Amino acid sequence: MKTIRTTRAMAAWSERLRREGVTIGFVPTMGALHDGHRSLIRAARLRSDALVVSIFVNPSQFSPTEDLSTYPRPITNDRALCREEGVDVCFEPTAQALYPQGFQTIVTVPALARRWEGAARPHHFTGVATVVTKLFGIVRPNLALFGQKDYQQAALVRQLVEDLNLGVAIQVRPTVRERDGLAMSSRNIYLSADERRIAPLLFQALRAGQEMIEGGISDVAMIEQIMCQTMEQAPTIHVEYLAVCDPNSLEPLSVVADRAVLLGAVRLGSIRLIDNRPVKIPGRKSRTTR
Ligand code: PAF
Repeated sequence: MKTIRTTRAMAAWSERLRREGVTIGFVPTMGALHDGHRSLIRAARLRSDALVVSIFVNPSQFSPTEDLSTYPRPITNDRALCREEGVDVCFEPTAQALYPQGFQTIVTVPALARRWEGAARPHHFTGVATVVTKLFGIVRPNLALFGQKDYQQAALVRQLVEDLNLGVAIQVRPTVRERDGLAMSSRNIYLSADERRIAPLLFQALRAGQEMIEGGISDVAMIEQIMCQTMEQAPTIHVEYLAVCDPNSLEPLSVVADRAVLLGAVRLGSIRLIDNRPVKIPGRKSRTTR
């Protein structure tokens, strides 16, 4: 496996392979790789001739009060995981390389970024959209894979690829979970033992909502009430949102017609957890979905 640090060397490597007709798969990450990333890397490995994983803790998607300086950076383990999974290139640019003096351009996807994570973290999605656009421009992948755990992020990436004609196929892979349902995340290591014990409640609340919808209940107020009641089992969890939304626009629904996505975010001490469940009412014909 090769480690590439400069944007110029990365672009040259991709350019050479593309000219030879090699298909390039890409998994963008911020490192601290876990089994969720591993499943993206494995899926990308199966679907492309050459595989690039980027490891870049992107400063522009953190607000000044967030955990940029303490975000885990276990680079030796990350490289070992990439090597084990047959990654060809680990792209590890510096912040200076991606945001040099004089950098100005930002990418925003206003409607999809307005609610939920976008409301809780105002500059987050501009940072994500900008860095993903830049990484696509440098790596020039044919295919890029994202985890469904960050449902809103994946929706936004799909939209920007379409809007900006970037010509990258986007695949979103299922969330990888711990045995008790907690969605894997690089930040889970910060949960105390007590917080870790109650963290799966978010998954349980979303699953309760999913079961109601699959059981034929379409009234969103009722579904949200049951999800909130599930969370009340642990008064130390602060619910930021538990919502039933349109799976494409992410706008809140009042009635579930055929499909929905249940989105949730909670705070446990200083840690935020997010999760989601896409759902479909069995037997109903769906309207257009992506
Ligand atoms: O999901 C992530 O790890 C990041 O938001 C991404 C897509 C790598 C952009 O920094």
